[in-house]
Formats: sequence, C-alpha cells, structure tokens
Amino acid sequence: MLAALFLVLLLCDEVQSLTGPEQVHIAFYTSPWDISLSYGTSTASMQNLTGTTNTWIFGGITRHSHVVILNNLKPSTQYYYQIENRVFNFRTLPANLSSYKACVFGDLGVYNGRSTQSIINNGIAGKFDFIVHIGDLAYDLHSNNGKLGDQYMNTLEPVISKIPYMVIAGNHENDNANFTNLKNRFVMPPTGSDDNQFYSIDIGPVHWVGLSTEYYGFEEQYGNTSIFTQFNWLTKDLETANKNRQNVPWIALYQHRPFYCSVEDGADCTLYENVVLRHGALGIPGLEQEYIKNSVDIGFAGHMHAYERMWPVADLKYYKGADAYHNPVAPVYILTGSAGCHSSGMKFSPIPMPWSAHRSDDYGYTVMTVANTTHILFEQISIDKNEAVIDSVWVSKDSGHLHTEERRVEAAGQKFY
Ligand SMILES: *[C@@H]1O[C@H](CO)[C@@H](O)[C@H](O)[C@H]1NC(C)=O
Ligand SMILES: *[C@@H]1O[C@H](CO)[C@@H](O)[C@H](O)[C@H]1NC(C)=O
Ligand SMILES: *[C@@H]1O[C@H](CO)[C@@H](O)[C@H](O)[C@H]1NC(C)=O
Ligand SMILES: *[C@@H]1O[C@H](CO)[C@@H](O)[C@H](O)[C@H]1NC(C)=O
Ligand SMILES: *[C@@H]1O[C@H](CO)[C@@H](O)[C@H](O)[C@H]1NC(C)=O
Ligand SMILES: [Fe+2]
Repeated sequence: MLAALFLVLLLCDEVQSLTGPEQVHIAFYTSPWDISLSYGTSTASMQNLTGTTNTWIFGGITRHSHVVILNNLKPSTQYYYQIENRVFNFRTLPANLSSYKACVFGDLGVYNGRSTQSIINNGIAGKFDFIVHIGDLAYDLHSNNGKLGDQYMNTLEPVISKIPYMVIAGNHENDNANFTNLKNRFVMPPTGSDDNQFYSIDIGPVHWVGLSTEYYGFEEQYGNTSIFTQFNWLTKDLETANKNRQNVPWIALYQHRPFYCSVEDGADCTLYENVVLRHGALGIPGLEQEYIKNSVDIGFAGHMHAYERMWPVADLKYYKGADAYHNPVAPVYILTGSAGCHSSGMKFSPIPMPWSAHRSDDYGYTVMTVANTTHILFEQISIDKNEAVIDSVWVSKDSGHLHTEERRVEAAGQKFY
C-alpha cells in the first residue's frame, strides 16, 4: 500500500534569492512509527507546514530548522513527501518488528569521509534500516560558521532523508556554544534530555539508549549538573527497561567515548578520563555500574578511530572463550570509530588489552543484525577491502537469561564512586 504525505512547502519570501530547503533528514521520534522530519533553510519560515520552525543563530548566520512530527504512521508503508519541487520517500518498518538491521559507526567527517559513499549506497539499497552515528560528525558541524555542517548534511541527504539517522554528541560536537549545532540540527526522541544529548527508544526486541560522554569530557566548561541529570535518568531508564525484558529482551547503549579500547596513546582507554567515565571518581558518578547492574547487552562507542570487539567485560574482569558470546556474563563492547575521521588512522597499542577479541584499523562501519529475541549478529564492513566483512560474531542468549546476574550481585554491593 502506498501513502502520500505531501508537504508542499513554498518559501514565504517574494524573492527566492537564498538557498531553498536543504539538509533533509528523518529520525525515529517516540517509536519506530513516529518520524521526525527536519530540513533547513536560510530564508524565512515556510508555508503549508504543519510543524515548527526553529530559528537559531550560529557564527553570525541565521538558520531555520523546520520540523514535522509524523505520528502513528502505518507499518510497512512507503511514504512520499515533497519539499518545494523535490520528492523524497521512506518506508516504515513492519509492525511485528522482530528483525532488522542497524548501521552503527562513529567519527565520520566531510574530509576523509571514507565510508560516506558506501553508507549512502547501502542505505538507499536497503542493506540496513537506520543509522546510528555515535558522535563526531562532519569534523565539525560548527566549522566555518556551520557551513561545513551544512555541507555534511547535504552530502548525506540522499540516505538520511530515506532512513532514520540517529545521533549523539562526540567531543567534536562541542561548538563552545553548549552544543548548539547538535541541538538545532537534529530532533532525537524526546524521552530523555529532550535536546538530543541522551534518550532511549524501543525498536523491536532492542531497547536503545544514547548517552552523552561529553558531559564528562567538558565538565570544566559546562559544569557537572548534566552529569547528574543524565545519571539519574539512566538509572531509572535502565531499571524500567530491565523490568520490560519479557517484551524487549535486549538493551543496547551507544556513547561516544569508550569504556574499553587498546590503542596507542590511548589516554581515553586507560587513564583518568576513562576512570571517571567508567568508574566514577570524587563524587562524579561513572556509568559502567549501571550497565552491569541492569544487564546491558551491548555497548557501542567510537572516538578511537578503529574497530575493536571486546570479550564480555565488567569492571576490568573479562570472560574469554568459544562460548563467551552465548549467554554472556557481562556487557559486550564494540568500538566502531573508523568510519572516516578527518585526520588519518590511529595506531593500536603493541599489545592488546586482555579483553580485546579482535582489532582492525581498516576504515569502515558496523552492521548489527537483530535476528530475533535471542540472536544478534555484528559484522564489521571494511572500506579498505571493498566492503568485505572482516569480523563477525553472533551474540546469543537464552530466553529470560539475565546474563550478568553474577556481576550484578557484585556491582550492587559496590560503590563505584
Ligand atoms: C500552500 O499555500 C499556498 C499559499 O497559501 C496555497 O496557494 C497552496 O494552495 C497551498 N498548497 C497546499 C498543497 O496546501
Ligand atoms: C511476529 O514474528 C514472530 C517471529 O517471526 C512470530 O513468532 C510471531 O508470531 C509474530 N507475531 C505476530 C503478532 O504476527
Ligand atoms: C546547556 O544547555 C542545556 C539545555 O540544552 C541547559 O540545561 C544547560 O543549563 C546549559 N548549560 C550551560 C552551562 O549553559
Ligand atoms: C559540582 O559542581 C559544583 C559547582 O561547581 C561544585 O560545588 C561541586 O563540588 C561539584 N560536585 C562534584 C561532585 O564535583
Ligand atoms: C533466531 O535467529 C537465529 C539466527 O538466525 C536462529 O538460529 C534461531 O533459530 C532463531 N530463533 C527463533 C526462535 O526464531
Ligand atoms: Fe571523538
């Protein structure tokens, strides 16, 4: 069945001298069948738009972000939408959403954006259903008064106007204006901070959570209030998700800075910043104990410009072996920050950390296939090797298995900070 959704948008201005609507993109809103549709203009507000226009100024440039929330769309339906004379389309996910594919990566820029064309081609071809970009976009969204961000969004428009594009902040989203570009260019689910910094959404059998590690990274600049706000929210969100395991058995988190990684010069992997983020220190709450207590299954991160798959690991204790990914006893972390940073590759430490199961410094991205309530496949696509799958692993668990039970007991008895 086809449904048309015509948003015929005309510029108010008599003289259409400035650029028309651009940077068209969509995202999941409160459910996979609620879509936020956004685009930007440099002229005044639009007509025929049942939505909102958010006018914001950055780098001396006034931009208008137009947002339409499309509620309760029909499942498995092709929708068309028109913006001025351009027609776009997307297809909603099925009602019985037991399986789907997500493309997950961090650290993709305009310059040296090695994975960009592959992500566009494969996204349009339906090789994955949505994209999760775990921070460090464009390098940077705010560069050149935000024009680099405009260029980045326009480059990706063919795919992000067609499949949802979910984002969170990396350190490069700090525009010294309290993440103004991240907040105004996107509309993420309004279930957490309501400003795109942290949120959660159930998509089929997975409860997805996006977090800000930049509250930690830029605590000196912006203060510690947001760290506590996010921590309190996360505690409640994960407790609620954990109680809902019968319906939504998996929990996957994504954040920019990793808990675990082994790269050379990897202060973020081992030193104080990592300890505060993961473990907490001096009254600042770390995040890892919440993952452990609530049996989080998967943790994605970027920031290090490489791919690294960890053995299940909790508070530096790791669980290796052929069966480690079946009923894992701790969260499984995947570092996927190799999509294409503006500066070239990153060196691994000579000796991997003991929890490291596989490393690659090829450019690329991760495709996560949710097969059903018990099986998830992770595949690492290499751009250097012509889109070959260079690493793949199934993570599986028996129905009802709270896989970190053993660790949960330990974590519950520990004060991490
Ligand atoms: C859009 O608005 C213009 C001006 O008010 C009007 O002429 C036109 O018919 C409208 N188009 C639609 C599709 O509603
Ligand atoms: C949803 O899909 C699953 C797996 O294919 C199937 O077992 C279940 O019966 C389906 N539920 C509905 C309501 O169609
Ligand atoms: C940054 O913005 C958020 C809202 O998005 C606000 O709650 C917070 O107080 C701001 N922080 C500073 C330091 O201005
Ligand atoms: C949080 O910031 C406030 C204001 O700067 C400060 O007084 C307080 O000690 C900080 N708390 C922690 C735990 O660092
Ligand atoms: C779940 O998916 C896995 C991998 O495709 C498959 O082996 C298994 O039989 C599926 N389980 C159910 C209940 O469909
Ligand atoms: Fe980063």
